[in-house]
Amino acid sequence: MHNAMSEPLLNDGLAQTTLYPLDLRVTHAKGSRLFLDNGSSVIDFISGIGASSFGHSHPEITQAIHEQVDKHLHVMVYGEMRQSAQDEAAIALLDLLPINLDSVYFVNSGAEAIDAAMKLVRRTTHRQKIIAFKGGYHGNTFGALSVSSNAERKAPFQPLVGGIELLEWNDHASLELIDEQTAGVLVETIQGDAGIRIPDSDWISKLRNRCTETGAHLILDEIQCGFGRTGKAFAFEHFQIVPDHLCLGKALGGGMPMGALVSSRKHLQQFAHSPSLGHITTFGGHPVPCAASAVASKLLKQTNWDRVEAVGKKIESTLLDCSNVIALRRKGLYIAVELGSAEQVNRVVQTCLERGVLLFYFLSTPDAFRIAPPLNINDEDLQAALSTIVDVIEARA
Ligand SMILES: Cc1ncc(COP(=O)(O)O)c(C=O)c1O
Repeated sequence: MHNAMSEPLLNDGLAQTTLYPLDLRVTHAKGSRLFLDNGSSVIDFISGIGASSFGHSHPEITQAIHEQVDKHLHVMVYGEMRQSAQDEAAIALLDLLPINLDSVYFVNSGAEAIDAAMKLVRRTTHRQKIIAFKGGYHGNTFGALSVSSNAERKAPFQPLVGGIELLEWNDHASLELIDEQTAGVLVETIQGDAGIRIPDSDWISKLRNRCTETGAHLILDEIQCGFGRTGKAFAFEHFQIVPDHLCLGKALGGGMPMGALVSSRKHLQQFAHSPSLGHITTFGGHPVPCAASAVASKLLKQTNWDRVEAVGKKIESTLLDCSNVIALRRKGLYIAVELGSAEQVNRVVQTCLERGVLLFYFLSTPDAFRIAPPLNINDEDLQAALSTIVDVIEARA
């Protein structure tokens, strides 16, 4: 996929997640820009893979972090003590959500939120079967990997968690396989790693109804597509459905590590007993990410959705004018650009980076690259990034 195998991190004692890391050396970051140790800067057109949705080093987020650091860091494992940062993060988040999602369990990452949801649906329904969908990506803990779709990525780690069935996504007949033995059905509201795949409204509302009919709980994974990425606060708002459980991460933390399982009080209190501490985590709800998250929720509420959509439309129309673009799939600023081959994608991503624009790959969709700029990217960076990408796609650079 990339040019040459190297071990730049390992040489400095850091484990590598790939043989081909970008290995950019970041000194600081602001708004849409990453500043590098060679004095140059790069436009982050992927928001740290959907995590820095309000731009890097947002002044209100960093101020809240500073203030919390001056008060206290970790004091006790999750759930034993009242910490005002947690209260504020919960209030700000729940204020954005429908009434049945009235309780939040904070964890440290998206995958942990998925594991929490998988455990909670088994715990509450006393059923075992968990259904997920082909094309889905949910993370890399054993639980989250087990409900993810990419078989190649799962094979070396078998056996994974049992009792899981992967159904055809966006397929009406598959819904019949959700039955009275099903504890929960997990789906990304809009699939990300599959290359930004938007389900039919009709399918997703039938999915919601089928879960209700059979008593299976509907879990939406909005770790990437939630928190503003698709042009509404949460992606399920596009489909007029409400899940039983909602998994969040990435942008939720405003740049800090954080995940959350949002559900109803009735369901979430099950983690408190039989067994007690049923999903205990030392650092879940850490006050510093919570302080950042409370501000991120406030920023989400204040987001100018018309501008987000205008930026999305501009990216879409500009790139669809390029002769080498085969398709562009988009909801808000959640975008996949299909070029027809992994080689072309590799050339565009590499050359854009050399020209100062950071794009990135999908794990399971090699013929497309992702775009997910900060929701508040300024016009100048937007224009600069787009003209670079167009030049590179059209091989003028
Ligand atoms: C849809 C989706 N679910 C789950 C995850 C896992 O989140 P994390 O990497 O924070 O564990 C990701 C991460 O990319 C994701 O995109």
